[in-house]
Amino acid sequence: MENNKLIIGNMKMNLTLKEVKEYIKQIEPDKNFYVCPPSIYLSYFNDSGYNTGIQNVSEFDMGAYTGEISAIQAVSMGVDLVIIGHSERRMYLHETDEIINNKVKKSLLSGMDVILCVGETLEEKEQNNTKDKLNKQLIEDLKNLDKEDIKYVIVAYEPIWAIGTGKIPTNEEISDISNFIKQVVNNMYGLEPKVLYGGSINDTNIEELNNIDSIDGFLIGGACLKPDKFKKIIETVDKK
Ligand code: PGA
Repeated sequence: MENNKLIIGNMKMNLTLKEVKEYIKQIEPDKNFYVCPPSIYLSYFNDSGYNTGIQNVSEFDMGAYTGEISAIQAVSMGVDLVIIGHSERRMYLHETDEIINNKVKKSLLSGMDVILCVGETLEEKEQNNTKDKLNKQLIEDLKNLDKEDIKYVIVAYEPIWAIGTGKIPTNEEISDISNFIKQVVNNMYGLEPKVLYGGSINDTNIEELNNIDSIDGFLIGGACLKPDKFKKIIETVDKK
């Protein structure tokens, strides 16, 4: 992984093939950012020279699991990283911390970097339970790993109330939480992971967010779908 800030675009379940072809024409691949397209389009992005990640992998190795994609298969396609534990999957696909922990292990074993997403609901934030929630997620999702593996784990702090809502924590809040995440993982394994922020990042607020020293990069949803906006975000982060 590069030493400078990581930029990862999570395309979620968006774009048709026609739109993918247009997208590729409008934004040049660059070592400074990754795209995580819907899996069926991965080869288009890989063949066009992009760094890619996958939005999910199976908790199993290979075999009779209709519709699933294994970590081994993702790596065989040239995929560098995987997003695991996104709140949308925890919520709509009922992914438990146990399943997430299995996926983390399979992915690390296959040689992918893991972007583990953690975050609190609005209710948890209002009840001052953010750190308890994150602590529980980190402990359960990252349990029983080899210390060496932590080098390949990146934690994305994504408050659920900030995803796709236009609401965003203050820089102080993000800084406090990212230090907290680093400390929890350091207590577990004696190593600090990189921490990304994600949730309602756009081409305007990125300038301010980019001032947070303890943040090692950004996970971008909606804004990565618009090549002009995504380019502006990448340029702003790179400029610093
Ligand atoms: P958003 O999504 O940028 O559209 O808020 C971020 C994410 O879910 O990773």
